[in-house]
Amino acid sequence: MDYDYRLSSITEPDAHEDPAFQAWVAAVRRGFHQDRVSESRLRGEARIAFEEGWSLRRVHATGSPEGAISDDEPVATFCEWTGELSLGGGRTVPLHQISDVTVRPTHRRKGFLRRLMTESLTSAHRNGIPVAGLTVTEATIYGRFGFGPATSRHEIEVDAGPRFGLNQPPAGRVEFLTLDGLARVADEVFAQFHAQQAGSIVRHPARRLVLTGAVDEETFEPTTKVRAAAHWDETGTLDGYITWQYTGEQFSSQQIKVVDLVAVDDRALLALWDFICSIDLVTKVRWANAPVDDPLPWAMTDRRGYTVTANQDVLWLRVLDAPTAFAARPYVRDGRCSFRVADPMGFTDGTWTLEVTDGQATMTPTTDAEVEVDVRVLGSILLGGVHLGALAAAGLVRGPDDGVNRLNALLQARRDPRCLTPF
Ligand SMILES: CC(C)(COP(=O)(O)OP(=O)(O)OC[C@H]1O[C@@H](n2cnc3c(N)ncnc32)[C@H](O)[C@@H]1OP(=O)(O)O)[C@@H](O)C(=O)NCCC(=O)NCCS
Repeated sequence: MDYDYRLSSITEPDAHEDPAFQAWVAAVRRGFHQDRVSESRLRGEARIAFEEGWSLRRVHATGSPEGAISDDEPVATFCEWTGELSLGGGRTVPLHQISDVTVRPTHRRKGFLRRLMTESLTSAHRNGIPVAGLTVTEATIYGRFGFGPATSRHEIEVDAGPRFGLNQPPAGRVEFLTLDGLARVADEVFAQFHAQQAGSIVRHPARRLVLTGAVDEETFEPTTKVRAAAHWDETGTLDGYITWQYTGEQFSSQQIKVVDLVAVDDRALLALWDFICSIDLVTKVRWANAPVDDPLPWAMTDRRGYTVTANQDVLWLRVLDAPTAFAARPYVRDGRCSFRVADPMGFTDGTWTLEVTDGQATMTPTTDAEVEVDVRVLGSILLGGVHLGALAAAGLVRGPDDGVNRLNALLQARRDPRCLTPF
């Protein structure tokens, strides 16, 4: 069977009317076992694709027999666009974002993913984009292409009954929002959150609608279930918002599922928790995107009312240009360490000295390395949320303890990275 590789970009807002885009969406939904797409979801998908500037890589089979799916629907899909990754402290780098990776089960293991990924990363590298990112359905697929997990999230349950209380009462005020108000508030808060939160990825308006819950993810119609509120500090400055949905029986044992919670700082985060747990008749609040280094249990009078029910990786990163990526991020302490990166795909193979002076890093080529790291590890350590001692124990970082400890001390960030923009 012959296969035809195609590449096109979404440059118009009306992609939902394009049969090629419709066939693409059908293939992706088949790949992820989703229902056939509704008209409104197709429009929403086209809007996200246009705002983010997607390029669609796809593979078409030829000569499919009568009655089988038409050759117009790709057998393999792979989507990419350039977004923005926050490194914290107001620093950002362009991010080569990859999504919608599917291969029809009848055409799997023929090397489509390998070829599409190689072409995509080669093109991003050629265009000077220092880092690629994706989220994964299975942790076993992308390490071979140099990706490593860089951010995680905790799924939590908080006991919101009389047991809930904070050691220090929060200041400021909370008010419910209209859906129009949510749109404005969410953009303003997220921009500030993004600037200072390492691991954050920019949200365009259509994706923001989905992530805040303002539209239903499947239908893209305005939501009827989600409520929203925002927090203003003592000076009247907006600094956080929360959206949520009630679940459970009305007026008995109500539970709340937090859909989106974005706070500019920890004080706003805690104030929003105090609000959501103070709603009458609510016994439990669940959130799937809590920070791994959440201050909430430390702030609660009874920390046993806080339970982590799952720990999931979110963003996986693949460094394509180590000197650019590592020089761009902020550092909390000065120092120096040399390390060698082994990159079988060749994009960022080399040996460098990382030197940080007054929080500003340079990475210069050298010949002798104290520490050797696998390229997968680069993506995991870029944002400073992983202990190199653990990676060394797993054999992913090699070298004497002194070198590993110094590199670890250099790379550790003050707080864990987080990504609230799954894609
Ligand atoms: C995962 C998927 C995209 C792989 O596509 P594919 O074209 O069959 O992959 P390739 O033939 O190019 O395989 C490339 C390599 O990945 C390996 N691989 C592929 N799928 C894998 C999986 N699910 N788990 C572990 N390894 C996998 C192959 O063995 C091969 O390894 P090698 O190069 O070392 O021999 C495809 O099976 C699929 O669409 N799955 C369902 C949707 C999905 O999970 N998508 C991923 C979204 S993040």
